[in-house]
Amino acid sequence: MIEKIRGLKQEKNAIILAHNYQRPEIQDIADFVGDSFALSQQAARTDADVILFCGVDFMAESAAILSPDKTVLIPDTDAKCPMAAMITREALIEMKRGHPDAGVVCYVNTSAPVKAESDICCTSANAVEVVESLDCDEVIFVPDKNLALYAARFTKKTIIPWDGYCPTHHQILPRDITDAKEQYPGAEVLVHPECRPEVIDLADGVESTEGMIRHVRASRSDEFIIGTESGMIHRLEKEFPEKFFYPVSDYTICPAMKMVTLPEVVRSLENLEYVVTIPDAVQERAKRALDRMLQVRKLR
Ligand code: 13P
Ligand code: SF4
Repeated sequence: MIEKIRGLKQEKNAIILAHNYQRPEIQDIADFVGDSFALSQQAARTDADVILFCGVDFMAESAAILSPDKTVLIPDTDAKCPMAAMITREALIEMKRGHPDAGVVCYVNTSAPVKAESDICCTSANAVEVVESLDCDEVIFVPDKNLALYAARFTKKTIIPWDGYCPTHHQILPRDITDAKEQYPGAEVLVHPECRPEVIDLADGVESTEGMIRHVRASRSDEFIIGTESGMIHRLEKEFPEKFFYPVSDYTICPAMKMVTLPEVVRSLENLEYVVTIPDAVQERAKRALDRMLQVRKLR
């Protein structure tokens, strides 16, 4: 299958982008593996005709929004992020009516119509910088309440969160961290900002998935407790074979992220399916929100 994928990639002038939570064998055949921010950058700058996106719905949609002239494929249309489904365009419009002076930041984990109603997108890698980039005192932040509360720690602006959350990260409890620390007393604790505030309080580092790679590279520790989706462990072990990584619990699995398989990648490239399309009515406005995010510089 790996040989077949190589041949099909050449034949179709395709690249494969994969998120850090994908199955190990999918990460291993990808041309680029990264977090939502890095994957958006790759999608915006590639020369390939076809982008095969191994991730979830909103990630493939973002690639299609950023590269409207390319064919963007998602191998499995059931790979949907449940948090992205927690906010609709209509609910956001209603929220904006209640806060007419507020700027609107949407996490990249949203549908294209929600992006189109937002001033700017953010990812877990740049939420604070994006909030700070807005010229207003109040900021509506959708849909992740945990990421909203995390960003609120670093800004004087008033953050108005939506009540959404990631089921995979929200289920991690402070108890999981303290138990893991007891088991591995020498390990540093890294968690994703989609975790609850009480979990974040117990961490040594709070990072996007790609931020975790940078953190481990810069750290003198050689043991880490990882508070994010389990696919991250494969990526970390591959990058740092001499270091040790322990998942914070056995339950940090995102079912949507595990849907893409090697046979699906082969079929997707062979038949050029399933093509991700963005409604004309939202394409331009959604792209503006993503482009604005890509222009924000890191503050920290
Ligand atoms: P990252 O952008 O940090 O990779 O996170 C994406 C995601 O879906 C987290 O659950
Ligand atoms: Fe969505 Fe959470 Fe899965 Fe990320 S880990 S894709 S936020 S459900």
